[in-house]
Amino acid sequence: MTTDERDTLAQETTETPAAATTNRKQPFPAGFLESISTGWAERPESLPPQRAEAPYAAARRATVSAAFPGARLVIPAGSFKQRSNDTDYPFRAHSAFSHLTGWGADAVPDSVLVFEPTDRGHEITLHLRERADRTTTEFYADATIGEFWIGPRPSLDGVAADLGLRTAHIDDFTSTDHDLVVDDDDTLTRFVSELRLVKDPYEIAQLRLAVEATGRGFDDIVAELPRIIDTPRGERAIEGVFHLRARTDGNGEGYDTIAASGPHACYLHWTRNDGAVVPGDLVLIDAGVEVDSLYTADITRTLPVSGTFSPVQRRIYETVREAADAAFAVARPGVRFRAVHEAAMEVIAARTAEWGLLPVTAEEALDADRGGQHRRYMVHGTSHHLGIDVHDCAQARREMYYDGELEPGMVFTIEPGLYFQIDDLTVPEEYRGIGVRIEDDILMTEDGPVNLSADIPRTADEIEAWIARARS
Ligand code: GLY
Ligand code: MN
Ligand code: MN
Repeated sequence: MTTDERDTLAQETTETPAAATTNRKQPFPAGFLESISTGWAERPESLPPQRAEAPYAAARRATVSAAFPGARLVIPAGSFKQRSNDTDYPFRAHSAFSHLTGWGADAVPDSVLVFEPTDRGHEITLHLRERADRTTTEFYADATIGEFWIGPRPSLDGVAADLGLRTAHIDDFTSTDHDLVVDDDDTLTRFVSELRLVKDPYEIAQLRLAVEATGRGFDDIVAELPRIIDTPRGERAIEGVFHLRARTDGNGEGYDTIAASGPHACYLHWTRNDGAVVPGDLVLIDAGVEVDSLYTADITRTLPVSGTFSPVQRRIYETVREAADAAFAVARPGVRFRAVHEAAMEVIAARTAEWGLLPVTAEEALDADRGGQHRRYMVHGTSHHLGIDVHDCAQARREMYYDGELEPGMVFTIEPGLYFQIDDLTVPEEYRGIGVRIEDDILMTEDGPVNLSADIPRTADEIEAWIARARS
């Protein structure tokens, strides 16, 4: 049965069971309606154990509660988003909701977390649409949420035990004019975004898992390169191999994979992925596994499709690595986030000047007001916070983010690149169509930065050896 048919079935049953006529309907006869709600075994309710994230989520809620005394706070999970007609994108809960509930990939759409002010702080309740019992049309005829269609849904008691949260039915939630709602109220939105700047031990462990799983995806891509080259749209084959590894391990992906071969590597967010992967070119792959808790990795490797870098490819690649290593070298607690970017940019400016690509000196290019000539070849930033969102903490204030100081527990990317567009007349022909990015996920500790993705080969020599090993 198609989704369309399910929907029709649902509509005619919930709205006009007997009379509806559509181009694909089959009305439920009386015998069905009389018998569908009976004959089902009792479902024993065994409550799940509390998940490991629950105490961490409780601590995050306590921080939010303390910051907004007397205010009623509302954090919605969000709803389905339509893809076309009656098909939706896979549901993904709002990051603030997930962070404050501990509910990740298994969150129920349209749930709402409510902080009700009391004399002693807040009474916090998670409202969700509990499963309907089997006497309802929802059970057998609602293609979006009915358990007959989408499978078992949790009970209020089950969710309460799992998350360590008070729960109530969504029908018992009412909004008020004075609610502070995430994404509507700037102060609350900013607060819950900044709350994620420093990760707790649970979040760090989840990010480590995501990075490890992403490494396995990159290994599979390298192993499959010979087959990938043989497909007409090798970029899609790369995306598919990564996806297969993520799904085989039971995971998802935190963003659309960028598989950009040859000149496509110069388009920073190339997700069309419809090109061939051609020996002699480089292929840039930016991909990240998202684990059940929704924490995601964000890693880029640039590979020579034939297995070895040409001299010019190697020169560009190793310059990007030099920039990444320079950024890593300055990162430590107390240093400004922006200093990481500035260290990478010094290398990019110095080398592009040395190669004769700039109309000014490296020093002039680095001038804050009149410079920037080198940025033509790397327009993006070097780093962003990473967590439950790939670009985490997006609503944090600039003074907390770009101008803020690095602290132990922060997780961020270092991802410099050099991109020489195929039609860029400012560079010698041998540079044109080459794009390189190296992206690693970095955890700041008391003792300095730790590269969580260091086990994925990243120097030019390591990359060549990686491909050679896969082919031997
Ligand atoms: N994958 C997007 C980024 O690197 O920021
Ligand atoms: Mn990134
Ligand atoms: Mn990336």
